[in-house]
Amino acid sequence: MLYGADYNPDQWPEEVWDEDVRLMQEAGVNIVSLGIFAWSRIQPAEDVWDFEWLDTVIDKLHAGGIAVNLATATASPPPWVSATYPETLPADESGASYWPGSRQHFAPSSPTYRRLAGELVRRLAERYVHHPAVVMWHVGNEFGCHLWMDFSDAARDAYRVWLQNRYATVDALNDAWGTSFWSQRYGGFDEVFPPRLAPYSHNPSSMLDWRRFTSDMLLECYLMEREILQAAGATQPITTNFMGPFKPADYRKWAPFMDVIADDCYPDPANPHRVRDAAFQRDLVRSLKPGVPWLLWEQATDAVNWRPANPGKRPGALVAETAQSIARGADGIMFFQWRQSRAGSEKFHSAMLPHAGTRTRIWDAVTELGARLAALPALPAPGRDAQVALVFDWENWWAVEERDHPTEIDYLALVLEWYGAFHARHIQVDIVGPEEVEGYDLVVAPALYLLRDEGGAALTRFVEAGGTLLTGPFSDIVDAHDQFRDGGFLTQLGPVLGLRFEDFGALAGTSSAAAGVGALNADAVQAARSAAARGAVTFELNGTELSGRVVAESIHASGADVVAAFTSGAQTGAPALTRHRFGAGEAWYTATQPGADALDAVVGAVVAASGVHPVVAGLPAGVEAARRGDLVTLINHGDARVEIAIEGTDAETGVAVDRVVLDPQGVAFVSAPAAPSGPAAPSGPSLTASDAVARA
Ligand code: GLA
Repeated sequence: MLYGADYNPDQWPEEVWDEDVRLMQEAGVNIVSLGIFAWSRIQPAEDVWDFEWLDTVIDKLHAGGIAVNLATATASPPPWVSATYPETLPADESGASYWPGSRQHFAPSSPTYRRLAGELVRRLAERYVHHPAVVMWHVGNEFGCHLWMDFSDAARDAYRVWLQNRYATVDALNDAWGTSFWSQRYGGFDEVFPPRLAPYSHNPSSMLDWRRFTSDMLLECYLMEREILQAAGATQPITTNFMGPFKPADYRKWAPFMDVIADDCYPDPANPHRVRDAAFQRDLVRSLKPGVPWLLWEQATDAVNWRPANPGKRPGALVAETAQSIARGADGIMFFQWRQSRAGSEKFHSAMLPHAGTRTRIWDAVTELGARLAALPALPAPGRDAQVALVFDWENWWAVEERDHPTEIDYLALVLEWYGAFHARHIQVDIVGPEEVEGYDLVVAPALYLLRDEGGAALTRFVEAGGTLLTGPFSDIVDAHDQFRDGGFLTQLGPVLGLRFEDFGALAGTSSAAAGVGALNADAVQAARSAAARGAVTFELNGTELSGRVVAESIHASGADVVAAFTSGAQTGAPALTRHRFGAGEAWYTATQPGADALDAVVGAVVAASGVHPVVAGLPAGVEAARRGDLVTLINHGDARVEIAIEGTDAETGVAVDRVVLDPQGVAFVSAPAAPSGPAAPSGPSLTASDAVARA
């Protein structure tokens, strides 16, 4: 188990470096991410390079038995870069420059930025690629974190090239974007601009390509650095830190280029759904590289500094959140950062070593956690432990949230609602693309508005082969260009679902906006949210009247059985939930988004139909359970002590157990092999976190 933090010794005088190493040892730290923001220290002027301090730090860490995840330091260009090369600066929607003085003030597509960053990486690689302390490479940092889109001239030029590569001819671009509408027909690629400030909504097909381009530009920066490292002979795993469900970057497309997935996760102590949301994030990053443990590359020991109010974690929450990561596939637990900063924007952010020193609650928690992790046995790789797959797709996210739709949909919030119903039932879920559903027992694909041909074919094959699919509402509406397909809607899944789709039936008052987004005060948000959660339409399922929201679509059963019908609204009497046998499987469709009172009932129906089972049956409320190969992790997020019956071996003590007792925030790791189910775990790539552990 890797344990450590971002280490920024360049923010401190040399005198503290020995103490750092000594205290790292005391805390059980075995790896640090070194020098993530050290560009200006390494290269204080264009022709001045200073590696001696870095040599000293790396040697001290190595002598202290602490491995290095060496950063390429390219996330924050020094002031001389912006002053000498203003063309490296990004721009906002109106074309106005972002200026230096913070971080991430670079245009990802700027050739000058790439040249300067590339030179820095080349020199770092040549100097340290064979250093025995360096066990991993950390490229950039949280690509896109602060700058979701860049509208600069560098982006304009790169966008035109990107479009030319994608479409070859401008006629093909015109077809893909439907530019006959509103007189948007282009005569050449040099007439295309980034979607800068315009009087009204941009062409949605162009927006989809713009988002693809934005994700690709960030990925190109990563790949450029990766190639330089490899060309210099790097054999260590190379990665960058993801941010879970981060809209600007299609991590599923990025994942093949990460030797190991690293993720940063900062659950908000004030979010009532923080356990669910963090569980989803961890399942998402695990699912990006099936069978390969991932690394929690940043979390906070206590409070962060960047929310409007920054309470600390509840007692015990650090252990519980750490255990959740391990349970869901992590082989490394890291923090931002090692020593709390004494200057700068993040001086109030918690760290492993607080500014108040070692006689602190945080230091005690950090050293106790280090000792507990060090005592863990080697953990099994996460297998394909889930029978259920939840489809979550970036291109769909981009398209479904574009403007000018029947209603606003907050895709992530909606996916989290569905995920939460499974999480509450302790049913393990993988988070996959629509093309990755083979071999699961149950697939849930909500609001899959943009369904690529390959996704439609994969979902069809999945049902034919015996799987159970639940989809809808607002699914299978457009193709990969965000255009309607010939033949209406549900053109790909209609035969599988036994349905014909007629109309969308948006419900007033239940959109994302009505659910509080943009409301002016907390009371208004609360009132809007509860009204939205109550829903605006009803349907009857198994004799119970339940609510639906967002839409009440008009669908017609053409082979499907009607499981539930609407009992109010324009669709009264029409199907609300349907089920259709197709091939060896069956496909369910919900014509409305189930309200808070209805979600579990709908999920319960498909769970029963598909025969999927919880990780552990009969758990008390507030207890979370996840499986990782033979390892079952139980976490008590509730406020009362609980006793749980489970047969196995306590993984920490090696003692056989038939029950565990958990205090609030208590955690148990139990080795308890599962009955075989689901597809076999695919074999991972050759460079994994375990390699890094071995090297460390
Ligand atoms: C991100 C960054 C870190 C730091 C933390 C603070 O994760 O990668 O450099 O700013 O946020 O929470």
